[in-house]
Amino acid sequence: MVTSMEKLINHLKTQGFIFQGSEIYGGLANSWDYGPLGAELKQKVKDLWWNYFIRKNHYNLGLDSSIIMNTEVWKNSGHLGNFNDPLIDCKKCKSRFRADKIIEEKFPDFNSGKLTNAQLEDFINKNKIICPKCGSLDYTSIRNFELMFKTNQGVIQDDSSAVYLRPETAQGIFINFKNVQRSLRKKLPFGIGQIGKSFRNEITPGNFIFRTREFEQMELEFFFDPDDKFDWFNYWIEEVENFLTKVLGFKSESYSKRVHEKEELAHYSKATTDFEYNFIFGRGELWGVAHRGDFDLKSHSEGSKHDLTYLDPLTNKKITPNVIEPSVGLERLILAILTESYCEEDIENGTRTVLKLPKKIAPFQLCVLPLQKQQNDQAFNLYTELLKDFDVIYDETGNIGKRYRRQDAIGTPLCVTIDFETENDNCVTIRERDSMNQKRVNLSDLKENLKKEFF
Ligand code: GAP
Repeated sequence: MVTSMEKLINHLKTQGFIFQGSEIYGGLANSWDYGPLGAELKQKVKDLWWNYFIRKNHYNLGLDSSIIMNTEVWKNSGHLGNFNDPLIDCKKCKSRFRADKIIEEKFPDFNSGKLTNAQLEDFINKNKIICPKCGSLDYTSIRNFELMFKTNQGVIQDDSSAVYLRPETAQGIFINFKNVQRSLRKKLPFGIGQIGKSFRNEITPGNFIFRTREFEQMELEFFFDPDDKFDWFNYWIEEVENFLTKVLGFKSESYSKRVHEKEELAHYSKATTDFEYNFIFGRGELWGVAHRGDFDLKSHSEGSKHDLTYLDPLTNKKITPNVIEPSVGLERLILAILTESYCEEDIENGTRTVLKLPKKIAPFQLCVLPLQKQQNDQAFNLYTELLKDFDVIYDETGNIGKRYRRQDAIGTPLCVTIDFETENDNCVTIRERDSMNQKRVNLSDLKENLKKEFF
């Protein structure tokens, strides 16, 4: 596991995973661009989530709704007016902070989420929580800061054309509940999930890709009859845990679950359990599972004057379904995966940095390498042949040890090497990333052998 954020960021930049956003213009604070390997990793994690929660789950269906929606959506979801953070300014150095976060930095085990603004101010003054930038204790009072990004749609730039970038993908699902249910003739219980960008004008983004203003969410809204006695809330908590441990291979000591206290629940939530990951900077929310009750469908029914109830075909009863929502940020999950898989190991002639990524999400499954120049053509031909079935990279530069190290550093599970003997015995060497064990395999059996490893 990696112990320094700086080390991780450097590694990911050098290896082509993540670059600073707008770097050649001096950067844009807290924006990150995903290089070729980061883009692959993101895509594969999204595919894994989509397969697990949507494609291979008989209850659920997918959706891809708009980022910009009618402003009425945000009035009725409660975001306009409710979706804000407690902003506090240092009068001396003019730095701006989230009041709850400066408390939590000093008192990591204290839960400030349940305090009112007045209580936050009181706590900061009583405990003499000084400005993290300049050290003075001279703050403004706390104001609520609107987190949604506002823009204008069309040529007229006034309030009548104001629209917002979505701060969560969930609302696109609620407003399409009836469309999906009717068009696919779904019976309760069923879920609708989607993956997409969300935007929040965070007061204090940071910790690399943990909290950014532009990020992707993978959200599922699972609808069920409120009279259904089955415990769907815990069912989805278990599914999230299965995904983390069985699909992504997270160690059980890397994360913990935190049940929200009543006072800190979001305006829509009846109950929430967060999966918190032990990031390099400390524990942080990774994946939330919320019981949203019937808040959203009721609010949108009332606001839109469209009936969003479900007619039970057996009882002819009209129901407003309840909702369980497992919601995770893609980049946060990527940060946890990278933290989990980064290691430095002592080996015979030095150290190696390895990303022990699960095979399913490694940017490349294989690297094909010729041992010597004379084998370049044969190795390149093998590479193009393997590309038909696998995600492969080809590398012919540098000595073989260095090339293995390069593949370790980007998490490629297997290297296939054409060597001196290949000409005589028609065999190649397969080297495994984590154990560094090698075995020889006949070229005629190679694809079958590799398929067993990956599929
Ligand atoms: N629909 C519910 C919802 O959006 P949330 O707790 O605000 O709930 C859900 O966000 C998840 O989205 C979080 O657990 C986190 O993984 C991710 N997330 C939220 N804000 C984020 C940010 N500024 N940057 C990166 N990820 C974020």
